[in-house]
Amino acid sequence: MLTRRELLATSAAALAAPTLAQRAPKLPLAVASGNGLRCVQKAIERMQAGADPLDAAIDGVAILEDDPTDMTVGLGGVPNEEGVVQLDASVMHGPSGRAGAVASLEGIRNPSRVAKLVMETTDHVLLVGPGALRFARMHGFTPQELLTEKARKVWLYWKQNLSARDKWLEPEPSQLDPDVRDFIREYGADPFRDPRSYGTVHLSAAGRNGELAGCTSTSGLFFKMPGRVGDSPIIGAGLYTDNGVGSAGATGRGEACILFCAAHTAVELMRQGKHPKDACLEVLRRIASGTRDGRLLDRKGRPSFGVTIYAIDRRGEYGSASLWAVSGWGKPRQFAVADSGSARLEDCAYLFEGNPEL
Ligand code: GLY
Repeated sequence: MLTRRELLATSAAALAAPTLAQRAPKLPLAVASGNGLRCVQKAIERMQAGADPLDAAIDGVAILEDDPTDMTVGLGGVPNEEGVVQLDASVMHGPSGRAGAVASLEGIRNPSRVAKLVMETTDHVLLVGPGALRFARMHGFTPQELLTEKARKVWLYWKQNLSARDKWLEPEPSQLDPDVRDFIREYGADPFRDPRSYGTVHLSAAGRNGELAGCTSTSGLFFKMPGRVGDSPIIGAGLYTDNGVGSAGATGRGEACILFCAAHTAVELMRQGKHPKDACLEVLRRIASGTRDGRLLDRKGRPSFGVTIYAIDRRGEYGSASLWAVSGWGKPRQFAVADSGSARLEDCAYLFEGNPEL
């Protein structure tokens, strides 16, 4: 039996304790792909200092665009089949409902900054190829060589191993350049079949008042055909932000994310009331059940490629899910989160255990 004093204390505590729905969200919030730990940290610092969430997201993503050691984004990205680095990026700003994107952009290491200028200074959403480069030059960007020595050696190795019927000879395994060895250790030996062969950074951010933004940037599929465009610069595929609902993005096989309108579908599922993590899982279920092309399925009929979806909602709830539990190099698939507490990696939810059975 409670004393009157205990009863009063319990009632006061019950009144003071917020319900789940009332609990103050941990805003600002930034969620990114697993390579984006430094990016979310930067984005949070910028938002805590009062920056708009899109500026914060772009400044976060720029860390990887400028980093030659991430071979899936910006400077140092793996080139196309002709040895040319072609970058794709998009940005979307919830409060204004506007978006901008560039695709197949050569020579400019920060495509997401060019994408923001497309959004802010033109009537268009997407500029591609030489037109995007001309636009970037007009805004003062100076073209540079984006192909690093390591990426050049990796591309050459890929060419040498492409076919037994051409004039290129495969190097002896014992003669492999250390840079190529290092690349194979990190990204896998078979860039066509291996789920590791798609990089990309996505970052969704929620500002102090729940205002939303997102940014996705990539050098795209390794050794892609010149002019190939993935999901990253396609609004609704690699990125979608609705200020009244949430923001979502994707990494992984861009062709699947385009076919299933991955990011837009995630936002629509959140609009219907799904938690961000469940919205991500449902998008992946649709990709898994809708992929019927045999060359894209493993022995058990599951997608043989990787896709990961990231989502936040306007209340500061967040989640991420991946088709496969384990990355190609045997670690659990993770995504990056930063809020008022800390910047950290968390495990993605997933559809399938392990790796595809090829
Ligand atoms: N998701 C990046 C790409 O497919 O280009």
